[in-house]
Amino acid sequence: MSKLSVDHLLGIKYLKNEDINLIFDTADHFKKVINRPIKKVPSLRDITIANLFFENSTRTKLSFELAQKRLSADVINFSSGQSSLNKGETLIDTVNNILSMKVDMVVMRHPNAGAAKFLSNHVDAKIINAGDGTHEHPTQALLDSFSIREKFGEVKGKKVVIVGDILHSRVALSNIFALQIQGAEVMVCGPKSLIPKHIDKLGIKVETNLLNALKWCDVANMLRVQNERMDISYFPSTREYALQYCVTKNLLDSLNKDITIMHPGPINRGVEITSEVADSSQSIILNQVENGVAIRMAVIYLLASKI
Ligand code: CP
Repeated sequence: MSKLSVDHLLGIKYLKNEDINLIFDTADHFKKVINRPIKKVPSLRDITIANLFFENSTRTKLSFELAQKRLSADVINFSSGQSSLNKGETLIDTVNNILSMKVDMVVMRHPNAGAAKFLSNHVDAKIINAGDGTHEHPTQALLDSFSIREKFGEVKGKKVVIVGDILHSRVALSNIFALQIQGAEVMVCGPKSLIPKHIDKLGIKVETNLLNALKWCDVANMLRVQNERMDISYFPSTREYALQYCVTKNLLDSLNKDITIMHPGPINRGVEITSEVADSSQSIILNQVENGVAIRMAVIYLLASKI
């Protein structure tokens, strides 16, 4: 397979295992490129990409921009805070105005679930979902699986637990889909109040006890508690949450095996994981960030080949 089966990257649920393998093989190549003295290739010299961020971002925004520049694309950046959206302009009007400047591809982060899909139905450009509300964050899940594959050789058969605020997490849903497509076993772990009802219908295990989850897994992907998406209290206090769900060195030392620790960032140190764990040799958090650039180069390159 040399082409993706999709025209946009809207969510992992639209991908096949062959698509993921193609993205990973392409990312392997680009990872070598970005570790060379000359980190740039001329592949996308005739492509213009707009990065539209309607929500805050550090890692995703910077790594998309770096990926585009490494591919020699022209890049324009839009942040909603400084835009005419504040004067009442609609999303479609905003995007159509940007597209009239001859933009080929749009990378969009938006607080509403389905925003990227909506855009793909209304504008003539390739769309990449950089996170839509609590729905999907496909490039995060791809870089997470790519990092697991790099560490273990393959994702198939690995036991991965996703810990924390599953209810508000687009990273959780995209990871569940990506891991299942590749044949991994998936568990979610967190307080009952932060686990969506009926999530077990997706064919995953559900656990509320962190120690049990860590004993079961090869990899623990620790998620941030998304206070900004909570309109009610889902647990008594942050201290209480950390007592039950923070991965500490003592907890890791009590297991009779080494597990791999991941986190999509941003980390709340001392809430999801302690600094000692985040900065330990068991953590691959910074490898995830490095791999984010290669994965995003691969996705952009493969979608651009369909323009
Ligand atoms: N992992 C992630 O999406 O981080 P940002 O919100 O900083 O982009």
